[in-house]
Amino acid sequence: METKENGEDEQQVVNPWKVDAKDGGKIDYDKLIDQFGCQRLDQSLVNRVHRLTSRPPHVFLRRGVFFAHRDFNEILDAYEKGEKFYLYTGRGPSSEALHLGHLIPFMFTKYLQDAFKVPLVIQLTDDEKCMWKNLAVEESQRLARENAKDIIACGFDITRTFIFSDFDYVGGAFYKNMVKVGKCVTYNKVVGIFGFTGEDHIGKVSFPPVQAVPSFPSSFPHLFSGQDNLRCLIPCAIDQDPYFRMTRDVAPRIGYHKPALIEASFFPALQGETGKMSASDPNSAIYVTDSAKDIGSKINKFAFSGGRDSIEKHRELGANLEVDIPIKYLRFFLEDDSELDYIEKEYGAGRMLTGEVKQRLIQVLTEIVERHCRARAAVTDEMVDAFMAVRPLPNMFN
Ligand code: TYM
Ligand code: TRP
Repeated sequence: METKENGEDEQQVVNPWKVDAKDGGKIDYDKLIDQFGCQRLDQSLVNRVHRLTSRPPHVFLRRGVFFAHRDFNEILDAYEKGEKFYLYTGRGPSSEALHLGHLIPFMFTKYLQDAFKVPLVIQLTDDEKCMWKNLAVEESQRLARENAKDIIACGFDITRTFIFSDFDYVGGAFYKNMVKVGKCVTYNKVVGIFGFTGEDHIGKVSFPPVQAVPSFPSSFPHLFSGQDNLRCLIPCAIDQDPYFRMTRDVAPRIGYHKPALIEASFFPALQGETGKMSASDPNSAIYVTDSAKDIGSKINKFAFSGGRDSIEKHRELGANLEVDIPIKYLRFFLEDDSELDYIEKEYGAGRMLTGEVKQRLIQVLTEIVERHCRARAAVTDEMVDAFMAVRPLPNMFN
């Protein structure tokens, strides 16, 4: 079937601002890999990470949450030869708090930082959300700082991490790279990638270079001065891929390595796998600020169940795990493989009921959210300033 480069076809839409599987179906991730031209992250790569880092691969790797990549094997080749790299990820501050879906790339990035002992830059695109969400500049900046607290609460190492807001940081070497990128991308090209129309304001059209250039070490002279050859690895969900297709296209033309990517599938909305958990729809999402009670009632009320209509039918047929949201969520966050196996078997055979599975899920998520809240409460304004200070990180590769 004809699929357009901007991720739209009759069946599914996946781009930075919309994820929709259409007609009550599920996102077809195999098709996305073909359509975007990325590579599948297979078991041999997972094994290789295990070998190189001498620690068990993160549960998101083991279970295929991170399922696609671009040139991740080249990062590992370089690393094996003793070359380091840096990590780059980000957040567009569109809401006061993060939801569980947002935590996925950040939790995984924290694991990569610890496992490979490499520096990390985190971009807060307050400018992006100001343009897309009709937020005032000051409000967007305020949300960026609030989101920074949630991000810091994921446990990043301050001696290897630089967090920056576009409104504060863009300029100097960063801006020079933006101009170089801008000159390499035609209007027709961004229309093809992002689907801009004649009615979109030019702020939107001008934004992609801002998200592109943190992929280049020279955008951070206080960190990587004289290391233009340093490679960059970007962990994100696959909705961000369009930005980095553009970036990879341009990189060699302006003298840099193409950034490598490691890409996650979406933590689904409570309503089911046709969409991603999204801050634009509060009923679809569990926020890291939700109370135990909120979590309980959202799961009980909204989490789409693959259980059958009557107990008799359920006992006879078992749950349909293909569409069951509580099971999908447990696959992300219940770390114990044998317990997960057990629940899938019992629930799938109808011996366990939806209510019991939901109870277990509520426990698991409440524990994660409470742990996160405690960590966040310990993040002071001074810590945010310290992470965001433009400073050298002297031991970032040790
Ligand atoms: P944003 O704020 O929309 O999302 C932040 C990160 O979370 C991922 N994500 C999800 N992952 C799993 N399941 C979900 N339901 C889900 N929803 C969002 C996103 O892919 C992203 O990794 N423009 C970006 C900010 C940005 C960025 C970057 C992201 C700037 N530079 C580099 C990644 C890498 C944005 O608005 O992200
Ligand atoms: N993903 C954003 C949202 O929360 C919107 C957005 C982000 C976007 N990056 C973009 C739109 C790039 C167009 C191009 O909905």
